[in-house]
Amino acid sequence: MSNMTIKIALDGPSGSGKSTMAKLLAKELGYVYIDTGALYRTIGLYVYEKGLSSEDKEGIIALLPEIHITMRLIDGAGVIFLNGRQIGDEIRTPVISKYASDVSKIPEVRAFLLDLQRNIAKENNVIMDGRDIGTVILPDAQVKIFMTADNETRARRRYNELIAKGQNVKYEDVLADMIWRDKNDRERDIAPAVPAKDAIIYDNSNHSIEENLEMLKKIIKEKIG
Ligand code: DC
Repeated sequence: MSNMTIKIALDGPSGSGKSTMAKLLAKELGYVYIDTGALYRTIGLYVYEKGLSSEDKEGIIALLPEIHITMRLIDGAGVIFLNGRQIGDEIRTPVISKYASDVSKIPEVRAFLLDLQRNIAKENNVIMDGRDIGTVILPDAQVKIFMTADNETRARRRYNELIAKGQNVKYEDVLADMIWRDKNDRERDIAPAVPAKDAIIYDNSNHSIEENLEMLKKIIKEKIG
């Protein structure tokens, strides 16, 4: 019965608004929301706490056997546990963003997280937000959307989010980090952050959250009725 669930892949670069949209849509549709970037961030956090460089590929691969990541569904969203410890906002810092982007280039890390993501989609109707959901994780997703927005819009959103969380960041640094990370994610050899051939590309730069939500609901309705 593995093909009975509905899968919506919502991919796109950081600050494209996909997590905001995915959360709202999941609530409205009654689907489970899965933030796959948080999984790479969790591995990034572990590597960082162990004191390794984010570029120490061999060292990172050697750590994988001691990493146990599980997801528990709480209030319709996947909450991550790293070796039994619940993960929260500690993965949302600029340094962990860089670690996440770097560890996500390692094929062994991507393979390590593959079944976890697919198994959740086998058992639940899901909206998964990420970079390679439509291309690699759920190539049979009924709906694939690739969200984008221009650099300034995305950096402004990310900046506002970080400031709201009480982090002391400068807009220029957020923009520069974002441009670096996009390139790192887009140009990697494995599962690059590019749209699936059958994805609908949606640029939300000049729209409000309400407008985006309506637009995405329309796209989803057309696909799955
Ligand atoms: O969505 P995010 O910014 O929290 O993701 C953090 C990093 O994880 C991102 O820079 C690239 C990586 N990532 C990935 O490679 N594949 C995914 N499906 C999601 C995130």
